Amino acid sequence: MQGLTAALLVWTLMSPQGHGREAWPTHTACRDESLQILYQSCDPLQDFGFSVDQCPKQLKPNLNIRFGIILREGIEELFLDVALFSKGLSILNFSYPICEVDLPKFSFCGRRKGEQIYYAGPVNNPGFEIPEGEYQVLLELYNQDHSTVACANATILCF
Ligand SMILES: *[C@@H]1O[C@H](CO)[C@@H](O)[C@H](O)[C@H]1NC(C)=O
Ligand SMILES: *[C@@H]1O[C@H](CO)[C@@H](O)[C@H](O)[C@H]1NC(C)=O
Repeated sequence: MQGLTAALLVWTLMSPQGHGREAWPTHTACRDESLQILYQSCDPLQDFGFSVDQCPKQLKPNLNIRFGIILREGIEELFLDVALFSKGLSILNFSYPICEVDLPKFSFCGRRKGEQIYYAGPVNNPGFEIPEGEYQVLLELYNQDHSTVACANATILCF
């Protein structure tokens, strides 16, 4: 998985800006017997690399993830908005602060526009069991000025 993410990141770095109207390829963030997470960048300007080291149906409170991106914007502050849908119905929306001026949770907080981030490590998340089904997730990372840093739509398949 590590090699894959590194390869993806290199490829992201080499992709021309202003990719046009074509959709970005669908990536597999993780795949296990009972759980599969696929995602696609919905930022017209760039793709990014993301993977989860293990993909258990019973999500552990500490997941190890890998994330690589080139910053379109500085991230003195960074927030994540998540919208979860099942069969077209909105189930859950939440917003989560990742970098705050007084509470930078990660080493990459405060990085500037144009810099590259590669994070491999744990994230705190609520541990829970994902009920069987197919879910659509919209994710948006944005900074202190509400400028988009990354955007993705994902599909979660849980058997
Ligand atoms: C992302 O959204 C597009 C357009 O709605 C859809 O065709 C695609 O399957 C979605 N990708 C994933 C990985 O959910
Ligand atoms: C989530 O946000 C969308 C768009 O703002 C809204 O239409 C939807 O009702 C919200 N869903 C929930 C469960 O709050």
